[in-house]
Amino acid sequence: MSLIRLVAAFVLYFLAIPATAQTVAQAPPSAAVVASASSPSGTIKVQVTLNPEGRVGYQVSRLGQPVIAESRLGFLFTDAPEMLRNFQLAGQSTSSFDQTWEEPWGEYRTIRNRYNELTVSFDEKSWLKRRMTVVFRVFDDGIGFRYELPTAPNFTHANIADELTEFNVAEPGTAWWDEALEWNREEYLYRKTPIEEVGVAQTPLTIRTASGLHLSIHEAALVDYSGMDLRRVQGRVLKAMLMPSSSGPKVSRDLPMATPWRVIMIASDAPALYKSAQIILNLNEPNKLGDVSWVHPMKYVGIWWAMHLDKATWNSGPKHGATTANAKAMIDFAAKNGFGGVLIEGWNKGWDGDWFGNGWDFSFTEPYPDFDIAEVARYARSKGVAIIGHHETAGNIANYEKQLGPALDFYQKLGIHAVKTGYVADAGGIQALGPDGKIHFEWHQGQVMVNHHLKVVTEAAKRQITVDPHEPVKDTGLRRTYPNWVAREGERGMEYNAWGEPKNPPEHEANLIFTRMLSGPFDFTPGILSLTGKNNTQILSTLAKQLALYVVIYSPIQMAADLPENYLANPKPFQFIKDVAVDWDDTRVLAGEVGDYAVIARKARGSPNWFLGAVGDEQERRFDVPLSFLEPGRRYRAEIYRDGENADCRTNPRSIVIEQRTVTANDRLALKLAPGGGAAVRFVALGR
Ligand code: NOJ
Ligand code: CA
Repeated sequence: MSLIRLVAAFVLYFLAIPATAQTVAQAPPSAAVVASASSPSGTIKVQVTLNPEGRVGYQVSRLGQPVIAESRLGFLFTDAPEMLRNFQLAGQSTSSFDQTWEEPWGEYRTIRNRYNELTVSFDEKSWLKRRMTVVFRVFDDGIGFRYELPTAPNFTHANIADELTEFNVAEPGTAWWDEALEWNREEYLYRKTPIEEVGVAQTPLTIRTASGLHLSIHEAALVDYSGMDLRRVQGRVLKAMLMPSSSGPKVSRDLPMATPWRVIMIASDAPALYKSAQIILNLNEPNKLGDVSWVHPMKYVGIWWAMHLDKATWNSGPKHGATTANAKAMIDFAAKNGFGGVLIEGWNKGWDGDWFGNGWDFSFTEPYPDFDIAEVARYARSKGVAIIGHHETAGNIANYEKQLGPALDFYQKLGIHAVKTGYVADAGGIQALGPDGKIHFEWHQGQVMVNHHLKVVTEAAKRQITVDPHEPVKDTGLRRTYPNWVAREGERGMEYNAWGEPKNPPEHEANLIFTRMLSGPFDFTPGILSLTGKNNTQILSTLAKQLALYVVIYSPIQMAADLPENYLANPKPFQFIKDVAVDWDDTRVLAGEVGDYAVIARKARGSPNWFLGAVGDEQERRFDVPLSFLEPGRRYRAEIYRDGENADCRTNPRSIVIEQRTVTANDRLALKLAPGGGAAVRFVALGR
């Protein structure tokens, strides 16, 4: 008996409190640390534990402070005993990696991928003798880990009922999270609650702990697996919950297999958290497509917002939006104002009748009679404008996959190299052809859809077509591997300001930047200069904020979403939309608090010019921004678009000041954001 236990036994004996003695006797056997690894600079440390029951766990600390307390690992299967206890350590190894790679397009030209890796294998002591290997990559600003399941004599296929991965957040804190498994898919307003009030959440889920640490839990490289949600089981223990499937287990895979990476971004503040999202890309495999110079970041306009305003229709009839004449007018507008592309929705047969969540009528090769697609494509080419095609599936991937090859061939022949796809159906309402030849209803984030999206992306890549899914599967950084997967939706975009109830609140973007945006590009469709939605309802934004969105919400394709007439009526603010870049050499988050504000500077790719965007929430916000990101010794013309003195998104949203100043890296820029406001700045490099 150890000294401590001896003393404890004496105390208990003399105090004679049998209940306490009972508790001591039943305390869970403590786990031993069997392996550990630190990040390259030693900031983050992971320890792998094994308790006397043979349960495997891990814990994470930052600068010696616990971040993730002991959290368990394992699996449930539908046709085999769980992988949970009875493990013994079978082996471990470590390695280091440090490589800088270049993004073909992105927020940064180069990204450093630097981590220490720890691989730990456990074997079951029971008769099954299966092996579970866990690979940890420890970065200075977070960790990723994944399971590897090799084959064993009686284990060649995994039917996974659920993952038992836990994230036991060590400190109390505030969580920003979105409901999972609800009918409106990924399109909920972020909730802000104590960690103890999280229910079932999507990822990324972002946390600010009591000591000010910023964490975000997400996943990387979601391939041939089911998307992970987080379910709070007790206290601050969040547990992986895989999306279900109606055609079988949540995940069905031949062995050997590796799971997606489970990622915990860990940073000292919100701006650093934004940068730690590079981990997501680093955990994905390098580009598999080779030369992707055919992927062009661009701004685009489209036959789109008019439908959301009810001024035009997707379906045929007197208000049909996608007519040859309308398309040509939009192409002219794009060419005249320097936009690279025109999105055309509602061009194909299938929109008449009840298409929502149905989709059986959609043809992806038959245009409506008033839309001469060959002529539109020819006209666009003659004007140097790209057409962005549209495939709304209404969540019916059985119908879409049947037509996928011919549909993409059709676009390729017409010289159309971009397609926006859509999966408008309630959550759980995806119609997929099951292995039994019957239609099964599936989730947007389940294994069936994970595989579907990759199929569309790889088939499109064969034809040099880029893909932008709406109602998509969540982003897990696969754009690194498949750079034609340029953007996606996956949260409430601008369309909610047309018809949403409620519309997006002023804090929406300040929430998105540190949650949804950690996962990757968002086809948010900014730039509504009318500041009105359907039936002239008011959008809660100032004019300057609409401009700022082009900088703060990242996507290599950015829409100028408003009607051309509203741009023509606002030529001065419109100038910023024409000037702003979409592809970047570098990104700096200069200030930020989750849900409150963000100030972001980005350097245009291949250009000395910089852009700055600032967005706030419903409060007035003031910043004194050092311009030290600019090249030292160089002068810049700062073209500033800021809220007018008395601007307010509710009472005076159109008040904007547009002014110019010459600045250098030694200057500071004072910015005042109105309630619901923003600021946008273009820094044009001048002489030295
Ligand atoms: C929802 C998409 O988010 C929107 O952009 C599109 O216009 C409609 N679906 C119709 O496909
Ligand atoms: Ca949508």
